[in-house]
Amino acid sequence: MNPTLYIEDIFKGKVPSGEEVTLNGWVYNSRSSGKVKFLMLRDGTGTIQCVFFKGGCEEESFLNFDKLTQETSVTVKGKIAPAPKAPGGFEISGLSFSIVSEAKDYPISPKEHGPAFLQDHRHLWIRSKRQHAILRIRSEIIHSARKFFDDRGFVCFDAPIFTPNACEGTTNLFEVNYFDDAKAYLTQSGQLYGEAGAKAFGKVYVFGPTFRAEKSKTRRHLTEFWMLEPEVAFMDLEGDMKLAEDMIGYIVESVLKNRRTELQDLERDPAILEKIIPPFPRIHYKEAAEILEKESKDNFKKGMDFGGGDETILASKFDKPVFVHGFPTAIKAFYMKEDPSDPQYTCSMDLLAPEGYGEIIGGGQREESIEVLLKKINEHGLDPKVFDWYLDLRRYGSSPSAGFGLGIERLTAWICGVEHVRECIPFPRMLYRLSP
Ligand code: 4AD
Ligand code: MG
Repeated sequence: MNPTLYIEDIFKGKVPSGEEVTLNGWVYNSRSSGKVKFLMLRDGTGTIQCVFFKGGCEEESFLNFDKLTQETSVTVKGKIAPAPKAPGGFEISGLSFSIVSEAKDYPISPKEHGPAFLQDHRHLWIRSKRQHAILRIRSEIIHSARKFFDDRGFVCFDAPIFTPNACEGTTNLFEVNYFDDAKAYLTQSGQLYGEAGAKAFGKVYVFGPTFRAEKSKTRRHLTEFWMLEPEVAFMDLEGDMKLAEDMIGYIVESVLKNRRTELQDLERDPAILEKIIPPFPRIHYKEAAEILEKESKDNFKKGMDFGGGDETILASKFDKPVFVHGFPTAIKAFYMKEDPSDPQYTCSMDLLAPEGYGEIIGGGQREESIEVLLKKINEHGLDPKVFDWYLDLRRYGSSPSAGFGLGIERLTAWICGVEHVRECIPFPRMLYRLSP
């Protein structure tokens, strides 16, 4: 029984009204009113109402209708009928159904459940309308982001997950045993490998899961999240920001174009997203620090990194995402290029999303001098031996290089207007959550 037709095909008008069809799916809900019975059938691509009239359908199906409990899997035969008032514009005049597998006492009912219960049942929760909408938008975001880079001639360049070296500092590394007492770490970022790729292919993007043993229990933190990291040789910070804003503009446009229904299901106002057109404003760290020294609620002092609350204050000044560039050298990773006009600052940038969603992109220009890089590796207490391959990129044809990392779940949370990143990945991994 291979499915040949999906509900979305019907909604797209691919099959003429009156045609007899077979649909496979699950019972979203069902109700009876005397001689008519209604089944809301979902198949993952949509939900359609199937109406069974006494005398108008197979008698056995009519008699067995009450067995159609929530999430029972079924095969329905019926005729397509126009239904101008229904969400997709069509319904099914039911002829018969057969039960594939009965579902007894499905744990998630339309009543309210607490977040812990829902997270424990994540494998089932993803069938509900809201989760469905978020994960479809996530899929659209990934599709459009890849398309953005593919169309511009970038090479998809996968970086390893097991790495011998830290990229983003040593405080949040997940360590694993890697045969014969060797230690490996789960990657925090594919960037260093992306830089090797950029020197080989000119422009690449790394896309994969990344890991941070962050003991942060905030709505923005996961321990495993997906990062998209373009890297371009001979590009500087300004080019990097241009690339980032063009990409965000393109992704938002694609979601607006292709995922309207899902935005509606989430009650996300499209007008907010329609304003997200590049160019985005840019402010230097020093300017941001001046604002925060007046307005921060977290005791911000110039020289410090921003807290979540600080990012919200800065972003609230704009209705588009804002770039903060030129972070202090002292708080940035070893690979960040120092600003030639003031080495206390770096050629780095973060993109802060509006509405309190915080940093969705971090990146910048890379240090190209081997001497400066070695000095930084030592200052950061890192082992130069494990970075020797990375230093080769400076020994053999060093060049300016820039890139950034886009956090897929944070971008999804902002675009969907969802409070917590844990709803923006199929199975979230967090400080206190490793299952299901
Ligand atoms: O700013 P980050 O740490 O940058 C890097 O890792 C660079 N090496 C990227 C590069 O230049 N190629 O992380 C980049 C983005 C953040 O802006 C954020 O969106 C996301 O990754 N991110 C997280 N998302 C969810 N949970 C976490 N714990 C995250 N940490 C970072
Ligand atoms: Mg960052």
